[in-house]
Amino acid sequence: MKILITGGHGMVGRNIQEALAAHGGVQVLAPKRAELDLFNFGSVLAYMHQHQPDWVVHAAGRVGGIQANMANPVEFLVENLDIGRNVIMAAKQAGVRRLLNMASSCMYPAQAESPLSEQLVLAGALEPTNEGYALAKIVSTRLCEYITRTQPELQYKTMVPCNLYGRHDKFDPKHSHLIPAIIHKVHAAKMQGLPNVEIWGDGTARREFMYAGDVADAVVYALEHFDTMPAVMNLGLGQDHTVNEYYQVTAQVLGWRGEFVHDLSKPVGMKRKMVDVTRQTAWGWKPRHTLLDGLRKTYNFYLETVQA
Ligand SMILES: NC(=O)c1ccc[n+]([C@@H]2O[C@H](COP(=O)([O-])OP(=O)(O)OC[C@H]3O[C@@H](n4cnc5c(N)ncnc54)[C@H](OP(=O)(O)O)[C@@H]3O)[C@@H](O)[C@H]2O)c1
Repeated sequence: MKILITGGHGMVGRNIQEALAAHGGVQVLAPKRAELDLFNFGSVLAYMHQHQPDWVVHAAGRVGGIQANMANPVEFLVENLDIGRNVIMAAKQAGVRRLLNMASSCMYPAQAESPLSEQLVLAGALEPTNEGYALAKIVSTRLCEYITRTQPELQYKTMVPCNLYGRHDKFDPKHSHLIPAIIHKVHAAKMQGLPNVEIWGDGTARREFMYAGDVADAVVYALEHFDTMPAVMNLGLGQDHTVNEYYQVTAQVLGWRGEFVHDLSKPVGMKRKMVDVTRQTAWGWKPRHTLLDGLRKTYNFYLETVQA
């Protein structure tokens, strides 16, 4: 089996590559941006025709935290729209029979009650801080559904992961999501002997974070169980934590004993965001890492690479 991974050198993509290498028996194509620019439809189509992958795992995108999304709404909308359309339509035109599209739980309505089920897509207004990104994810998800509905021989399906963290994450504060940002801040406080670390908001917002190695495990599971995977399926833990708890467990992993202070003037996004895992559970898959295990592995990666 020949698998094309888009975004194969991003956090999710690298974890998928590592999991597929451990699984064995597959040929992986993971072109970097310099080799295949996904903004160029002609190049993507030519690549699909030339390599004829059996399966496309679409894990490329412009991805970032609240700050990056708020500062660059045009780029988050247009880049993700273009990449999604180009990859999915090129796969269709080249006759690729199986495609796994990575969406995001950001595409659920801001006011929807958790747990967020897959039927909630387009059921209400989106969270304003990442609306552009979410709109693009909704379009690619719907596009996959339309293609499979009109051409059932093409199985184009979407996983909707909750928030992710893990090895190969981005730790630069300008681009990082919550967990790598916490690791970076608490590590800096530990190294510099600072007495406290600032938390945006009161820290009571609840979030669900899955270790990216578990997403890769789900993709490997999908290799063998793609036929039974629902057309749109959440990937989640079925449990969440407050932002304050993520800071506390990170401090425990890093062995830092300072205090946390809250900046109530900063935006915090949705009050709670946890996905419904009913479909995932019925499909027969569940994540393996506890928060403590995942944070330990992620911090080791940070020490080995970012701080090396
Ligand atoms: N991270 C999360 O918390 C999270 C949560 C839910 C869903 N997801 C989804 O999972 C997928 C992967 O996310 P991630 O965290 O792995 O993001 P990431 O680390 O930023 O990786 C994204 C990858 O896409 C590539 N890419 C972007 N534009 C490209 C282009 N025009 N041509 C070629 N490559 C391009 C990037 O290449 P460069 O390195 O060259 O920029 C990068 O390798 C995304 O679809 C995201 O929406 C992520």
